[in-house]
Amino acid sequence: MAYATEENLTELAVERWQRVKSPRLRQIMTSLVRHLHGFIREVELTEEEWLAAVQFLARTGQLCDDKRQEFILLSDVLGASMLVDAINHRLPSEATPSTVLGPFHIEGSPELDMGGDMTAGAEGSTCYMTGTVRDLDGAPIEGAVLDLWQADGAGVYEAQLPDCDGPRLRALYRTGPDGAYCVRTIVPLGYAIPLDGPVGELINKETEISPCRPPHIHFMVSAPGYQRLVTHLFQQGGDYIDSDVVFGVKEPLITEFQRRPPGRTPAGDESSEPFYLVEYDFTLPRAA
Ligand code: BEZ
Ligand code: FE
Repeated sequence: MAYATEENLTELAVERWQRVKSPRLRQIMTSLVRHLHGFIREVELTEEEWLAAVQFLARTGQLCDDKRQEFILLSDVLGASMLVDAINHRLPSEATPSTVLGPFHIEGSPELDMGGDMTAGAEGSTCYMTGTVRDLDGAPIEGAVLDLWQADGAGVYEAQLPDCDGPRLRALYRTGPDGAYCVRTIVPLGYAIPLDGPVGELINKETEISPCRPPHIHFMVSAPGYQRLVTHLFQQGGDYIDSDVVFGVKEPLITEFQRRPPGRTPAGDESSEPFYLVEYDFTLPRAA
């Protein structure tokens, strides 16, 4: 074996990492080594910078547990999560696009009836969301499950409240025979990603990047025989819509939150207050 020099080190390391048994892991590891070496060479990383990076990654790992995933947040703000999502969900143009899952989904939300209220008393402007879940031919899908979650008026998710028993601002809804769904919730607000860890510190102290996400409601839509869709609906004209810190906004996901006068709501009751209405159809491709 040749001994290491600045010139031959990359080839030596790539050659070493050829000895991975699985072809796919071999491809990943050798490419990672090449790109990592290329990055170090390009910026001529100093030893202080290397140590700072190692300490940053260590702190990122130390903040991860079953409730918090600082590494996913790092991937999100670097645009890596959206790139992985884009590569893995190359959907037909008529299908509803996917976007980041984010760290705040909680499994096992309760199922509510059509028009059921998922706010659990959280304050905000009442908002109904209605529409149809369809296949690519426009046929309605009966029994599709919509799993929704969102932040409250202070920009906080239930998953960030250690003492909250929940469920709060999350629920499942099931489409009827006509593929229709109807949700009652509150208008979402924009919020900052968690800033008390290394990712937030990096963004806040070292950059002029806005740490905020535009107002949105998360949806996971699934139906037997169809590809599961993880997405959000964003409020048209909402703050930060053009600067989402995690690059999650896609044009077809921007929707109008229409202000309606007091009167009959989509859930069939009478409201003495104005309310908001979002009308949106989801389109799912068949599973492969
Ligand atoms: C969210 O939308 O819940 C989210 C996504 C990525 C990072 C932080 C929050
Ligand atoms: Fe969110």
